[in-house]
Amino acid sequence: MRYANLTGWGHGLPPSILTNDDLSTFLETSDEWIVQRTGMQERRISHVSAIEMATLASHRALACAGLEADALELIVYGSCSPDEQVPNSASGVQVALGAKRAAAMDVNTACTSFLYGLASATAMIQQGMVRNALVIGVEYISPFMDWSNRNVAVLFGDGAAAVVLEASDTPGGVIGTVLGCDAEARQTLRVRGMGCSYVDGGLTYGDTLWDFDGQAIFKRAVHGMSEACARVMREAGVTADDIDLVVPHQANLRIIESVAKYAGVPMERVMVTVHRYGNMSAATVPVSLVDALSEGRIKPGSLLLMPGFGGGLTFGALLVRWGDRVTPLGTSDATLPPVTASALEMVNAIRARQADRGRSVEALMNTRFIETLLTPAATP
Ligand code: ACO
Repeated sequence: MRYANLTGWGHGLPPSILTNDDLSTFLETSDEWIVQRTGMQERRISHVSAIEMATLASHRALACAGLEADALELIVYGSCSPDEQVPNSASGVQVALGAKRAAAMDVNTACTSFLYGLASATAMIQQGMVRNALVIGVEYISPFMDWSNRNVAVLFGDGAAAVVLEASDTPGGVIGTVLGCDAEARQTLRVRGMGCSYVDGGLTYGDTLWDFDGQAIFKRAVHGMSEACARVMREAGVTADDIDLVVPHQANLRIIESVAKYAGVPMERVMVTVHRYGNMSAATVPVSLVDALSEGRIKPGSLLLMPGFGGGLTFGALLVRWGDRVTPLGTSDATLPPVTASALEMVNAIRARQADRGRSVEALMNTRFIETLLTPAATP
């Protein structure tokens, strides 16, 4: 039996911090409401592209694994906020790393993109298709955010992290996988305009409308992740007592607490980072994993449970057996370019751009775009 052990890890977080008080300067909200309802205190806003954050995380993960970029055989880029649809973003990381021999693919299952990517890369290594893989979870949400909508604007942040998988005969890596999709509720989380470039119609990059039924998502998130956790543990023959650390998707502290309760794991054995980064969608699980390692919360041989939930509504839970090494083999000196603007200044710049051209968006999005093209102009 061939396994895919996790041998490298690193994150690529932008330094600029947007606090709840910053959000209160332009939204009818408060630090008290956000902390009480979500557990979030701050989140990061990026001054660089998603590919640049992902590349930083990748350099660090490769150095941690002691693997040269030109030995990489697969790059999986998990994200729902690609810089462009074509070319794919994995190829952008590939060229930035100089990983000439690697296959490169994007995976978009929204917040679960990293978990789906990790499961896919593991299966490809186990099948012998590749001997190693870099799996990235990255999100650059701030340019796509509807900053006038307090229901969503307070919840999300930017960031990236990556892990390296390497083929091994030693049991480890992903040892249990449950993936699914609650597609009947796919319209409860929908970002209209994301990834589109309808310049002539008045809708351009970054003009989005968020359809977001927070309470419905909340219930389905708890249900989907709890079912997935129960099933993956049952199928692997392990119980809650065997789980050393839960590293869950970080959408809301109350969701995490409910999932932990249903899984039967006390909060002392749950990694929580939602207070410092908000919901970074695909990046939350790998960033939390990297933080757990640097905080010494993962020991050699630890058993990790990783549940996630996201737009689609996709869900999943992975069981990961950690290997012998919990310290990096090496470090990278890669960095992001410096930034002088504050997070609030960057958000205000995005808001100004959206205000300039966003007025026509709602009208446009309430019709099917194709209809606006096909309807003959009214004759005077
Ligand atoms: N500040 C102040 N008040 C607000 C804010 C805000 N930012 N947002 C909403 N409110 C108001 C609402 O308008 C409402 O007011 P009303 O009672 O006068 O109508 C009141 O607060 C309560 O709103 P609810 O939606 O009932 O608040 P709830 O406790 O459900 O919390 C939240 C909302 C945080 C979005 C929660 O439902 C949630 O976390 N949902 C799931 C998370 C999620 O959807 N994440 C997105 C990605 S999917 C994923 O990652 C799993």
